Amino acid sequence: MIELIDDHSFHLHNDKISYVLTVMENGQLGHLYYGKALGSLTTTELDYLRAQASKSAGTVKYSPTTGNFNLADRAQEYPVYGSSDFRRGALDVYADNDPWYLDFSYQSYTITDTKPRSLAQPATYAVGNQEAQELAITLVDQVHQLKLVTYYTIFRAHGVIARRSTLTNLGASSVMIQNMMSAVLELPDDQFEMVNLAGAWLKERHVKYHNLAQGTVAVESLKGASGHQHNPFIALTRSRSLTTGDVYASNLIYSGNFLSQVEVNEWHKPRLMTGISPAYFGWQLAPAATFSTPEALLYYSADGLNGLMAETQAVAQQQIADRQWQRRPRPIVFNNWEATYFNFDETKLLTLAQQAKQLGMECFVVDDGWFGHRDSDRTSLGDWRVDHRKFPHGMGHFAQQIHDLGLQMGLWFEPEMVSPDTPLYRDHPDWVVRHPYPRTAIGRGQYVLDFANPAVVTAIYAQIKPVIEAAQLDFIKWDMNRNITEAYSPYLAAQGLPQTEFFHRYILGVYDLYQRILTDFPDLLIEGCAGGGGRFDLGMLFYSPQMWPSDDSDAVERLSILSGTTLAYPLSAFSNHVSAVPNDQVGRMTPLKMRQNVADFGPLGYELDITKLPAPELAAIKANIDFYQQHRELLVNGHFQQLQSLDPDANTVAWSVANADQSELFVGFYRKLATPNTSVLNYLKLPNVAVNRHYQIDDGPIVSGQILQQFGLREPYQFNGANADTAELRGDFQSQLYHLVAVD
Ligand code: DGJ
Repeated sequence: MIELIDDHSFHLHNDKISYVLTVMENGQLGHLYYGKALGSLTTTELDYLRAQASKSAGTVKYSPTTGNFNLADRAQEYPVYGSSDFRRGALDVYADNDPWYLDFSYQSYTITDTKPRSLAQPATYAVGNQEAQELAITLVDQVHQLKLVTYYTIFRAHGVIARRSTLTNLGASSVMIQNMMSAVLELPDDQFEMVNLAGAWLKERHVKYHNLAQGTVAVESLKGASGHQHNPFIALTRSRSLTTGDVYASNLIYSGNFLSQVEVNEWHKPRLMTGISPAYFGWQLAPAATFSTPEALLYYSADGLNGLMAETQAVAQQQIADRQWQRRPRPIVFNNWEATYFNFDETKLLTLAQQAKQLGMECFVVDDGWFGHRDSDRTSLGDWRVDHRKFPHGMGHFAQQIHDLGLQMGLWFEPEMVSPDTPLYRDHPDWVVRHPYPRTAIGRGQYVLDFANPAVVTAIYAQIKPVIEAAQLDFIKWDMNRNITEAYSPYLAAQGLPQTEFFHRYILGVYDLYQRILTDFPDLLIEGCAGGGGRFDLGMLFYSPQMWPSDDSDAVERLSILSGTTLAYPLSAFSNHVSAVPNDQVGRMTPLKMRQNVADFGPLGYELDITKLPAPELAAIKANIDFYQQHRELLVNGHFQQLQSLDPDANTVAWSVANADQSELFVGFYRKLATPNTSVLNYLKLPNVAVNRHYQIDDGPIVSGQILQQFGLREPYQFNGANADTAELRGDFQSQLYHLVAVD
């Protein structure tokens, strides 16, 4: 996978991709190619690539002794600002407020075949020594006494390169890192549109497109979390095609403030960079200390957006999330939030649990409101003692009854927060993120705990651990409902550390708590959540194989959220709950059929008062659960593809999910609003069928994979004003699930 072409040029390749880098004339690291696999490279071919790369339009020369060599439009691996390149660089270092104009020269490389999973920090991993290889290139700036190591991981099976870097201070005094990106990708032309996942609370990760033109397009979060508004994932697509054309994309394995941007220069060359946002960031690097960036992923597919999805989903499932969750079935959850909100006690919950069990559900999750005296969202966070008014015999006793019913037991926590009316807050006012200014913003009546302070993490875990033990929890929902304002850590102030380290240290504290919990309870399923999908990223996915994607449980809204999210994240990460109508977020009435047909894609749950439903709806839920249990492996872990538009405003949406050998697939078709006087001849072309096989469509006809790919699957006839006898679907909010099974 990693080929050394000459003693300072490297070719990382597998069946899908090639990534070529070399040491340039000035000793710095240059980029030669990333894209479709090139096969093995000869030194002549390498010389050819190098010769093309060295043509430069820049006029400011790098130095008087390097001839015409300049960096102005050179593709580089880890560019720095300050010499003949005027674009934003990947690394900015200051010493005593003076900017340093860095110059890193190649020193050496190592290649390793192993990359074990470590809970200490989220990153890609490989099992055994066959799946991946990692190249580490050491560069040194002798003048500034800094050592930069850039790491590249290539996986045998995926179209992706994982990148991260470390910086070590070899000098005698501290320096300040003001910017250190995780990855850079320079492309030879700008004939792309940038795609990102944007939105807000209740409408997260909708697909948006931006033209690339000279200038910079950036997405960023300064909320202390990856955020509802922007996601670190960005992609560059040539044509928006689902099936053909080059697509490049990046994502960060990180949950805090980020910046992902594409800068296009005057010669139409884009530079993609992603990493921790440099805004309000600064890391003091003491002599001999090392700073490590989060890891970033650079994807490539030659097969359009569905091709990209195949890579992002496989990488997340196999190299980032804990792989035990591909083997273990995700439980069908009952969550009481929209069924009861804060208005519950043990008796009410047990009635719900009994009904959930009868319907076939598998895990009972008690959401917000079980602790302190939390009858509203203004109180008791940080006081993780059971509320004896609601659970007179304690949580252990209640959980035992849930387990006795044959259900798994789950509980909600919001570990990073504190309410002002708690002993924790009264005893430790200095454990809150708060500037010494007189004014502090408050959100949802709560403050953010200073997770940059290890003592805070320890104290919170000391409260949570006995609850996990007493209730023998199988499942935790980890929520986070407000973002950070007036970012300031009293702990860092006391340690004499700069406040610009706060945001990064905060998120490392969050990872630390995850590590502690999962080290003690490795079988626990932790569902990530942040007021819905406010921290839906690969950092979280490393610890939480599934995440609550949005507080909007409406089936129509979920179509857009799922369609955007699955560009970057696997179906197995996307928790879907069937909720009541009229829907609590948008007031929409959708049929149960559509709500279940949407929620069946990914880990399934129910979040409505199932003690109040009419018998036909209960029967439909039971039937859906039986169906889901039979096909869960495919619906959660299968290969997901989009069949129509990704546009959040499209009236029809269609998805398919297939197993690895393409012997079985489901197709979901959804039409938001009925359309009058329409043609009945709409067909869904299925990309993920085997052309040499034949498939039975439900109980109907058997047709070849060729036909399904080229001609397609007929959409169900909708009532169009004239076909009352033959219409298959009527009215708004139509849906249909098809099951295709290969018969040969
Ligand atoms: C926000 C979450 O996204 C909801 O599902 C629910 O858990 C509430 N918080 C509880 O406060």
